Amino acid sequence: MKPRTAALLGLAALLAGAGAWMWHGRDLDRRMVMADPDVLPADLFAHAVPLGRETFAAHCASCHGADGKGDSARGVPSLVDIDRLYGAGTVGDIEQIIAHGIRAANGKSRAFAIMPAYATARPSPTEAIPPLTPGDISDVIDYLLKTGNPESARRGATIFGDRGGCFDCHGADAKGDPAVGVPDLTDAIWLSGDGSRDALYNTIARGSAGMCPAWLGTLDARALRATAVYVHSLSHPATPPLPSR
Ligand code: HEC
Ligand code: HEC
Repeated sequence: MKPRTAALLGLAALLAGAGAWMWHGRDLDRRMVMADPDVLPADLFAHAVPLGRETFAAHCASCHGADGKGDSARGVPSLVDIDRLYGAGTVGDIEQIIAHGIRAANGKSRAFAIMPAYATARPSPTEAIPPLTPGDISDVIDYLLKTGNPESARRGATIFGDRGGCFDCHGADAKGDPAVGVPDLTDAIWLSGDGSRDALYNTIARGSAGMCPAWLGTLDARALRATAVYVHSLSHPATPPLPSR
């Protein structure tokens, strides 16, 4: 064989290889998007994670941190712990949140409850919730953190379960409600601040309505799926969701 022919044959083989490789990549994309995200076969999981990691670094790390651990100073939740503000934390749930955002100004974002600003004259823009005095807020914190004297904690319990209306959103047991994004107040995981008296005071006095942008439109179906799989893997590193069918 002449060297020229050999080179041409080599090039053809290379192109065919690249074509097959690209076709394989597109096939994986298609299957990844079509599959039930909560029972991804191993090859699709392995395909999704690096793609999702890339999207995360480009679009999410600025708020959630490169490691996904969030930033409690800015009220950005960690995605690494299994504590979920929204939904059950399945890949499907996570994908919905990424697509539609949380309180995102796109009209399609689900209308979640907001944390009223109790130190203001009108704590909630939508509900008739009466304001609380600084003393009231301090009592509620004593109740939640089990600090202070028994008297103030008892007063706080009454405010929590009665005129403060806290029970209405956070539940009588203060364990929150992931259907509407209301956090658990009994665990050690805090969305805003470090769980200190000051941090709680700040949230209860000024309210909170954290926003996560909606990514539908910016990210295509492939990137949305891959990012959701990646985010899920952050909190489930030891047990990748690999029950292949
Ligand atoms: C209308 C629903 C609603 C009511 C009533 C309400 N909360 Fe909240 N609360 C929320 C929501 C929603 C959040 C999360 C806000 C966010 O995501 O930015 C929150 C967050 C908090 C946080 C911060 C938790 C964290 O992890 O950082 C504290 C503390 C808190 N609420 C205490 C109270 C107390 C005490 C009361 C009563 C005086 C109360 N809430 C009443 C909805 C409510
Ligand atoms: C501008 C800052 C910002 C960016 C960018 C951002 N997020 Fe968020 N995200 C937030 C905040 C703040 C919350 C908490 C909202 C609340 O208070 O309820 C949140 C909540 C979430 C939640 C819910 C967490 C839980 O505990 O249930 C997920 C999942 C999430 N973000 C994923 C992403 C992904 C994936 C991206 C990138 C595609 C992204 N976010 C980009 C700020 C951001």
